Amino acid sequence: MTRIIVALDFTDLNQAFECVETLSPAHCKLKVNNSLFTRGGPEFVRRLVDLNFDVFLDLKFYDIPNTVAQACAAAADLGVWMLNVHALGGLMMLRAAREALNPYGKKAPCLMAVTALTSYHEAEWTSLGFKKGIEDSVLSLAQLAYDAELDGVVCSAAEAALLRQRFGTSFCLVTPGIRLPEDAKDDQQRVLTPEMALASGSDYLVMGRSITRSSDPSALLMRLNAELSKQRTDEQNTDRSL
Ligand code: C5P
Repeated sequence: MTRIIVALDFTDLNQAFECVETLSPAHCKLKVNNSLFTRGGPEFVRRLVDLNFDVFLDLKFYDIPNTVAQACAAAADLGVWMLNVHALGGLMMLRAAREALNPYGKKAPCLMAVTALTSYHEAEWTSLGFKKGIEDSVLSLAQLAYDAELDGVVCSAAEAALLRQRFGTSFCLVTPGIRLPEDAKDDQQRVLTPEMALASGSDYLVMGRSITRSSDPSALLMRLNAELSKQRTDEQNTDRSL
């Protein structure tokens, strides 16, 4: 099973499809952001699902509980594998999202919460009126997601170890901000390598430009999948011998 989610951060639908054509559902899952969704709509998502890709619909729903519940059901009807909502919407909203997906049973998408966007600086966060700093707020928001029985959170790999320790192994952690040692950081501030992110407790790694800018995305994904699955096996063997 692959742990890599490729972020299709393209502004042009044809370019996005050209990239998808070089990829295989056996080697990666795909993330559709709100820019691409606004251009391509449900049709675009359905095409990816029809190609057998697991799709993470990254639309970060944030509204009153009833509206978010309706949006979650609409995403589930598209057959996506994962979707997300903002934990800042509060416990009632998170519970409404969870309940909206219950009728889908085992076919329900993984329901994830966004805690604090990594683009916030500490000063900007407190200027919004929050009494706690970002890290403590992330913990409180993840606790809300956990209490509402969401499947997990999207977080920085730098927070993954703390969240893993607090919420245990069945709480899913999806981490962006991943770079290969040879890559540029671009606009990301705190980046981790795939190996470091997995070691700190991430379940799924969101990787955009490291993959989409590569001359051979498919070969790169195969290499990364092999390295990550070896690392996971080594970690499990170490755990057993302790
Ligand atoms: O190209 P790169 O690997 O930096 O892309 C990271 C992806 O993860 C982008 O789609 C970005 O929007 C998303 N993301 C992020 N930081 C977050 C949440 C999502 O970089 N906190």
